Amino acid sequence: MPDPNEYVEVMPESMVEEGEMYPFDLDDEQLMLAKVDGKIHALHGICTHEYAELWDGDIEDDVIWCPLHSSGFNVETGEVTNFPAVVPLPVYDVQIEDGTVFVSKKPIRNDPDDR
Ligand code: FES
Repeated sequence: MPDPNEYVEVMPESMVEEGEMYPFDLDDEQLMLAKVDGKIHALHGICTHEYAELWDGDIEDDVIWCPLHSSGFNVETGEVTNFPAVVPLPVYDVQIEDGTVFVSKKPIRNDPDDR
């Protein structure tokens, strides 16, 4: 099992469906899982443009679309693919152990603390 100081348990892998997004809380942040092409990703769940919950948006191919003003974010890298957002989404590490999804407590890309 991943180090509980560095990872949180989120949900059973079997419940994560292709093309769906699943919000969860990590401390006082809102993150989400997203499954694309069989791979589970973890990203910050709030749009970096204004306030919108991205899990209410859509996934098309490898892009997450914000439901409010249609910014696009790459599900793998968190990079902006479509304006008006300009700041990438933090991306977290995903580990799967014994059928359970664990997510790192710190971003592995686009950490706001590094800006
Ligand atoms: S809040 Fe997401 S694009 Fe504006």
